[in-house]
Amino acid sequence: MTRLTGKTALITGAARGIGLAFAKAYVAEGARVAIADIDIQRAQDAAAEIGKAAIAIEIDVTKQQSIDEAIANTVSRFGNIDILINNAAIFTAAPIVEIDRADYNRVFDINVAGTLFTMQSVARHMIEHGTKGRIINMASQAGRRGEPLVAVYCASKAAIISLTQSAGLNLISHGINVNAIAPGVVDGEHWDGVDAFFAKHEGKPLGQKKREVAAAVPYGRMGRAEDLTGMAVFLASDDAKYIVAQTYNVDGGNWMS
Ligand SMILES: NC(=O)c1ccc[n+]([C@@H]2O[C@H](COP(=O)([O-])OP(=O)(O)OC[C@H]3O[C@@H](n4cnc5c(N)ncnc54)[C@H](O)[C@@H]3O)[C@@H](O)[C@H]2O)c1
Repeated sequence: MTRLTGKTALITGAARGIGLAFAKAYVAEGARVAIADIDIQRAQDAAAEIGKAAIAIEIDVTKQQSIDEAIANTVSRFGNIDILINNAAIFTAAPIVEIDRADYNRVFDINVAGTLFTMQSVARHMIEHGTKGRIINMASQAGRRGEPLVAVYCASKAAIISLTQSAGLNLISHGINVNAIAPGVVDGEHWDGVDAFFAKHEGKPLGQKKREVAAAVPYGRMGRAEDLTGMAVFLASDDAKYIVAQTYNVDGGNWMS
């Protein structure tokens, strides 16, 4: 399988979870990958596990200087960036009357501003180098509708769908395709945290929320990070060159829109 041979990808938040699965899938398709994460130790461990096609790059997507350095470091190792996946994000949850402004600011800084300004910086690089690149943003089923206890995270992911539409329409004039993936419920450390939140707020035993959401997925189970890699490879491949500004649900049938 070599659909991405010769391509280089920068994937934020790739030290674990879905981003790490993307990194492995891209390498399997012939790409070289920069595993960019605020957790540099874990990024280094992940890159070492993957092998010489992967490098670890430190990035904090809330800091412009860090974004610029991550791009420069990736380019100095790989020569170019063909693909960006804006995957780094955090989850938060609270009833409306308990939402904390500092928490809201942090979620929007990472999930929304982090995605926007990493996208902007990589797009500038692609335009300067004449790269007909691909940008994939990580949205969520949470961005398709509200949830009673998840207002801020849901709003941040709705913003990703909207930014993908605007950036997609703007950047295609430079030959850069911007699209997004909206996963449903994907088991892993992210969902361990979600489960723990619902255990606290709904008085459920640990693991109960996961069992409930798994039972509600039409496919019959929670997603696995590997369930998303096919779409991430496809959107970066030549087969997707006519796809612009879209958000694809990859969620076992949870949401239709
Ligand atoms: N897991 C799910 O059920 C699910 C569902 C829908 C959407 N998503 C989205 O998919 C993406 C990946 O999810 P995941 O489950 O793998 O998450 P995760 O929490 O396991 O991984 C997120 C990664 O982002 C990194 N990160 C956090 N803040 C950062 C920052 N400021 N700068 C750089 N890196 C930072 C973390 O260190 C971590 O490695 C996220 O955008 C998430 O919102 C996940």
